[in-house]
Amino acid sequence: MNSHKKTFRHVRILSFGLSVFGFSVATTLWGADIDLSKIPAASKKEGVTFAKDIQPIFEKSCYKCHGPEKQKAKLRLDSLAATLKGGEDGPNVIPKESAKSSLVHSVARLVEDDAMPPEGKGDPLTNEQVGLIRAWIDQGAK
Ligand code: HEC
Repeated sequence: MNSHKKTFRHVRILSFGLSVFGFSVATTLWGADIDLSKIPAASKKEGVTFAKDIQPIFEKSCYKCHGPEKQKAKLRLDSLAATLKGGEDGPNVIPKESAKSSLVHSVARLVEDDAMPPEGKGDPLTNEQVGLIRAWIDQGAK
């Protein structure tokens, strides 16, 4: 019996097992990602604009890291154009689709790792503020 060959086969079985395990962990993490029913409802306010309603929220809670001085994840939130352009991962705001906009997922703190402001780095936005951001996006992000 060639014991070298046998060991090799075991290694192959082991690595196959690990890759199946890794795949199921990855799909579980991906699938467990986001519970959209937990996002606060959009505000009923009409005529919501970046300059009037949203910029003040970002100025208070986000500019420290996404403003003129620092641009974490290459994201600036101090103008409408920059906000729509997005950061490292591309646009985070999808006009008219607030429930699909990852910026909304971040401020609604759906996934702890992606919560904005990050845990311990500033007060979470209130449901009213998240609702206003949703209304702004749903009204076309103007
Ligand atoms: C204390 C610093 C800090 C504050 C304050 C902060 N962020 Fe962030 N933000 C980060 C860091 C660091 C990252 C990149 C790493 C990460 O995703 O955790 C990031 C990433 C992001 C991203 C993903 C960008 C991309 O394309 O990858 C979004 C969207 C975002 N922040 C939105 C906000 C909003 C909206 C606020 C205010 C309500 C905010 N952040 C406040 C530090 C901050």
